[in-house]
Amino acid sequence: METSGKHVTCQLMMAVGTAVIGSLQFGYNTGVINAPQKIIEAFYNETWAHRYSQSIPPTSLTTLWSLSVAIFSVGGIFGSFSVGLFVNRFGRRNSMLMVNVLAFIAAGLMGFSKMAASWEMLIIGRFVVGLYSGLSTGFVPMYVGEISPTSLRGALGTLHQLGIVVGILIAQIFGMDAIMGNAELWPYLLGFTLVPAIVQCALLPFCPESPRYLLINCNEESQAKSVLKKLRGTLDVNNDVQEMKEESRQMMQEKKVTIVELFRSPLYRQPIYIAIMLQLSQQLSGINAVFYYSTGIFEKAGVSQPVYATIGAGVVNTAFTVVSLFVVERVGRRSLHLTGLMGMAVSAVLMTVAMALLDKLKWMSYVSIVAIFSFVAFFEIGPGPIPWFIVAELFSQGPRPSAIAVAGFSNWTANFIVGMCFQYVEQLCGPYVFIIFTLLLLVFFVFTYLKVPETKGRTFDEISAGFRETAAAGTEKRSPEELSTLGADSQL
Ligand SMILES: *[C@@H]1O[C@H](CO)[C@@H](O)[C@H](O)[C@H]1NC(C)=O
Repeated sequence: METSGKHVTCQLMMAVGTAVIGSLQFGYNTGVINAPQKIIEAFYNETWAHRYSQSIPPTSLTTLWSLSVAIFSVGGIFGSFSVGLFVNRFGRRNSMLMVNVLAFIAAGLMGFSKMAASWEMLIIGRFVVGLYSGLSTGFVPMYVGEISPTSLRGALGTLHQLGIVVGILIAQIFGMDAIMGNAELWPYLLGFTLVPAIVQCALLPFCPESPRYLLINCNEESQAKSVLKKLRGTLDVNNDVQEMKEESRQMMQEKKVTIVELFRSPLYRQPIYIAIMLQLSQQLSGINAVFYYSTGIFEKAGVSQPVYATIGAGVVNTAFTVVSLFVVERVGRRSLHLTGLMGMAVSAVLMTVAMALLDKLKWMSYVSIVAIFSFVAFFEIGPGPIPWFIVAELFSQGPRPSAIAVAGFSNWTANFIVGMCFQYVEQLCGPYVFIIFTLLLLVFFVFTYLKVPETKGRTFDEISAGFRETAAAGTEKRSPEELSTLGADSQL
């Protein structure tokens, strides 16, 4: 092994790999209710018939199913808000370990819901696994970021994103009729979430606590150093320690900014609105309409094997996530986001046309497959990764935790709205449902074009100086170039 400390050691790989099981869980539970919708609905119908001696009214079925899908995001809201309660008290690693209790409970509730003839158990289980997901999507990026050397932080951080999409894909494959997506085995499909939880619980005790947590929260310098030595595979870890100390010194200097202050202060108001709008653009783009309901959508679009088309969407999703990992560091965030939004808008129009012409032209079902695939591909180019990148880049240490909490709340709330309302809106609008997403996408495109500055390759100071100037001058029409000049000036 070299001694530069810039290479990937086994210890580091194992710790990162174990952590991203949490991302995998989030993805799995996002995708898992897509393929077996019909089958679980039949179970709801049967259970209803048993209890009330009549078959379930279609509106009640829609409500129950939408709730089963979307309550996941309500759990996510609560979870993402509770991240701070755990990480500084118990440490990053132990927090990840502890919340697996939620995964066990959720797996039990969902796995036994059929046996107990209870949709309530399934719905509560979805809530609990949402809680788990909200927490672990806070823990994982933090832990991975803190154990990685600076030079690898970006690259390893993207494994979180990759874990999510691979989780979705696994869920879609397991949801095939021949595997677990059938009337007998669907409880195992939902209960499967137990398996990654067990694996993670078995491996986490062998992973180190975050050295940053040990050094800064616990003041355990020697322990932090010994962890760093193992993670870096070198004895010289003084640079890392120095860097962390510097970072924590800056944090001390910079006062913590509360959520209320974020909205009150003219300094933060504009960046926080941008952060919220970007999160909304991610969720209201309609992406989760696809990840939650694509099998139903493909069926309505006349696709004969909708589950395979859904798996195809998962493959495209994974492939383009990998593509975006390479692109995101090289191309500006703003351009990528604009490209993604416009591509999604065009795909949504194509989808609508295909749905509308289906009665006359049978081959339109293939067009709808292409449309959904490109919808997903463009999502992973822009609105998928970019909003989180930009939130982290718009705010320095002081306001960042509050900003991330607000962003997370906006994200999960919009996720809930789409999951809950999609089926109703689809019943109202028929084939034109994707027009709504097209309009929203265009609004977000215009917003991004006018308001979002480029953040790539610029420091917080430069970016926030840009906003300060804008707020002071009362004009908001500055190009990114102007902003960066302003930032550079005020740096002097
Ligand atoms: C519920 O099941 C009954 C009997 O199998 C069926 O006739 C009815 O269409 C089903 N209802 C719904 C809303 O699927």
